[in-house]
Formats: sequence, C-alpha cells, structure tokens
Amino acid sequence: MKKIVVLTGAGISAESGLKTFRDSDGLWEGYNIEDVATPEAWKRNPELVQDFYNQRRKSVIEAKPNEAHYALARLEEKFDVTIITQNIDDLHERAGSINVVHLHGIITRSQSSRKPDLTYPINGWELKMGDKCEFGSQLRAHVVWFGEAVPMIEKAAQICTRADLFILIGTSLAVYPAAGLVDYVPRNTPKYIVDPKIPHMNTDSSFIKIEEKATVGVKMLADKLLG
Ligand code: APR
Repeated sequence: MKKIVVLTGAGISAESGLKTFRDSDGLWEGYNIEDVATPEAWKRNPELVQDFYNQRRKSVIEAKPNEAHYALARLEEKFDVTIITQNIDDLHERAGSINVVHLHGIITRSQSSRKPDLTYPINGWELKMGDKCEFGSQLRAHVVWFGEAVPMIEKAAQICTRADLFILIGTSLAVYPAAGLVDYVPRNTPKYIVDPKIPHMNTDSSFIKIEEKATVGVKMLADKLLG
C-alpha cells in the first residue's frame, strides 16, 4: 500500500474556529507566547499558564473537525496514511484518522510537571492547581513549550523518510524542529502543499501548490488521489 505522510499545522483547524498563531497580531489569544508557553512562564505564574491552557482546552472540546480533517481520514480507504501534526487539538482523531503523531503534545491530556513522559487523560476541560500525578507532582497541560525538547521528532523524521507521497497543510514552517521534517522526505517523492497563503520554503519548487483554504484544497486533493 502506498504510504502517504501528512504534516499539518494550525491552518487545518482554522475553519473549525481554532485560531492560528502567526496570522494576526503576533499574539496567541491575546497573550505573548513567552508569557504562557515557556517553562519560565510556568515558573513565574503557574496559575495564569494553567488557566490559559484550560481555556484553550475548552475551545478544542467545543470545536468540531472540518471537511479537511475528514478528507484526510478518507484517504485511509486506499492508502497507508500517517499524520504528523503540530496541533495540540484532537480533531484528526475525532475525524477518524488512525495514525496521528502529535509533535507538540495534545491538550486533552495532562502531564507531570516533573516528568514529561508521565501523561494522563483529563476529565472535562479543567486542570486545577493541586491536581497531582501519581508521584505527587503538579499536573500541567501535555504540550511542548518553547525551549522544551520535542520527544517525537525522531520518530516523525523516520516516518518522513518512508513517504511515497507527502502533503503539507496549513503551517507557516516557522518553528523548528518541526519545519525541518520536510528535508527528510525523499527527493523523488511527490509533494503537495495546501495553504491559502503559501509560505516561502527552500524546497519550494518541488511542491505542487494548492493555494486554497484547507476545507477546499484538501478535499480537492483527496478526491483526486482516491480517484
Ligand atoms: N486553511 C489552510 N491553511 C490556513 C488556513 C486555512 N483555512 N488559514 C490559515 N492558514 C495557514 C496560514 O497561511 C499559515 O501558513 O496556516 C498557517 C498557520 O501558521 P502558524 O500560525 O505559524 O501555525 P503553525 O505553523 O502550526 O505553528 C507552528 O508554532 O506556536 C507554535 O507550537 C505552536 O505548533 C505551533 C507551531
């Protein structure tokens, strides 16, 4: 079975009502990234960070997968599909995709603030100060902050080296190491990009460009691939 590898970013969830990071004013839901998405922010003001991610989790739970998430799930009828996502939402899974690698974690789970590989499901949307892991450490959102290691990156790079077809959707490719994954895809593998504002890339010319919103572009591409 032909192997399709898809790398997604915030753009695929934009039409589900979840905001992208770099489209607007450089803020994330009104906050500077350094004030909510770094280990220093957590040290400085854990209540603020906890509450910020509680609000994000609430929005994710209320959001629904869109046509683009569903179109990717449909590709599994004919292809061996792996989705590598930078997104912390669970919309790919809720649309029915089976193999989803979360590079930056997933907000519906918690993790120990001392041992990042200790993760747990969260009941509802709220994680409280005082909620502890089994060893007594405070729980925080299971997301990768700026300055933290990206434990899934090697697995993701391996997956990219095996792609027979590669699809990039809704990412500005501004954040490393995720952006570097494109370089692991074999040179001769056909590559598509779907984005209404295609970002500049070094490997630009090898991509077939679909300059559309995800709900339109991914659906078009999936229809074409499924014949
Ligand atoms: N459909 C497809 N793409 C879209 C849409 C849409 N409807 N709307 C916007 N986009 C595109 C934008 O043109 C842009 O190229 O989505 C991209 C969003 O880029 P970013 O906001 O930078 O998001 P992303 O690339 O996912 O950010 C990477 O940065 O803050 C960190 O950890 C966070 O995972 C995130 C990482």
